[in-house]
Amino acid sequence: MLTNGQDRPESVLRIKGKATLSGHVPISGAKNSTLAIMAAALLCSDSTRIRNVPAIADVQTMIEILKAVGIKITQSSGALDIDAKHISQSHVPYDLVNQMRAGFFVIGPLLARLGVARVPLPGGCAIGTRPVDLHVKGLQALGADVIIDQGIVQAYARHSRLKGAKIYLDFPSVGATETLMMAATLAEGETVIENCAQEPEVMDLANFCRAMGAKIRGAGTKTIVIDGVTRLHTTDFGIIPDRIEAATFMVAAAITRSTITISPVIPDHLTAAIAKLEEIGAKVVLESSSRLRVEGSPRYRHTHIETLPYPGFPTDMQAQFMALLTLSEGNSTVKETVFENRLQHVAELCRMGANIKLQGNIAVITGVSSLSGAPVMATDLRASAALVLAGLAAEGETQMQGLHHLDRGYDQLETKLRNLGANLYRQPLGSEQSAI
Ligand code: EPU
Repeated sequence: MLTNGQDRPESVLRIKGKATLSGHVPISGAKNSTLAIMAAALLCSDSTRIRNVPAIADVQTMIEILKAVGIKITQSSGALDIDAKHISQSHVPYDLVNQMRAGFFVIGPLLARLGVARVPLPGGCAIGTRPVDLHVKGLQALGADVIIDQGIVQAYARHSRLKGAKIYLDFPSVGATETLMMAATLAEGETVIENCAQEPEVMDLANFCRAMGAKIRGAGTKTIVIDGVTRLHTTDFGIIPDRIEAATFMVAAAITRSTITISPVIPDHLTAAIAKLEEIGAKVVLESSSRLRVEGSPRYRHTHIETLPYPGFPTDMQAQFMALLTLSEGNSTVKETVFENRLQHVAELCRMGANIKLQGNIAVITGVSSLSGAPVMATDLRASAALVLAGLAAEGETQMQGLHHLDRGYDQLETKLRNLGANLYRQPLGSEQSAI
């Protein structure tokens, strides 16, 4: 039997294009907030409750990682109860961190709680080499000795507690900002992190830590200041809505020339995506403080997109917008500046009839009048979303493989799309001949 490398039978997603969408989509909790906040639950020598947790494979992997260090976790509809009173292990197994880079983020909380952490290097992934040098340099500044031996990052606090420090990040890395902010919550004295990431998920993590009693100010700006405390207390915390899931559905409405509503959203988190949709000719209406209506248009203009750290255009929306620009008039460009290898969907979109030329990290997209369904392979999470969107707009049937990428980060994408009227079904690989 064919498997997807995770011992599940391999499936194919069959998408019959050209359906018009209508109705409402509920947006799940943010994947990237949830993963960081689950790691931060290790900081609390008590139990914490996290609500609005998306049902995605990456959350299950993070549950396995927390269990591997001896944490008790109970899952109930959309909530996690994490009891981190006793951490019995400082070492995380390679086969878990290897599945998901965010697993590395536990290094900060483990080091802060235990004075020692041993976490395998996550290695590269489908979108780039993704080093962890900024995490490591920051932990050293906080008073850790770090040795990298046989692929394992071993960090030891030089004194019984980490010590506050002034840290400058060479790049506003989301993960490094999160690792260092978490580590500093329990350090002695003040930590100042300069040039930090301003992503909403960093703010959500700071709010979670503050709800546990951490003293953090400035999250959401370029400078975060943390006054270390000795202990954090229990809390009950709801995750923010996923801005990338929301923006993916906004593009779904645009690419199928449909009108849909989405909620809950935090519109401020969607500024770049809304601006680009409006620039090319879609209409976005704020129906309330947490609800948007997106109205597609029969024709779209070209535009230029450059991915940047927040509040710039998100790299996590680059592939989905590229799918839309394949059907927009004229020449558009998409420049990927955050990850060095996040344009693998270009070849797959071209298989569906798109006209895209790659010049280094810039994709030049010449709009075509239609895409045609084709067998395609998802290469990473957001690429898989882009191919689903292209399939929704294409003539005929698209058959997408590599569905484990999609399952990592979208909570019931197919069900949500079907509820809007899309025609897409998953089938075991090899049974694609039957009609859908
Ligand atoms: N980088 C370094 N050294 C480091 C850390 C990062 O060179 O120590 C580089 C990376 O290689 C990359 C750039 O800095 O080229 C940005 O990486 P960043 O650390 O900001 O990203 P991340 O924390 O690994 C998170 C999200 C990603 C999202 C990026 C950028 C999580 C779990 N992941 O990754 O989400 O693309 O921030 O916004 O929070 C996704 O959801 O599809 C996804 C990939």
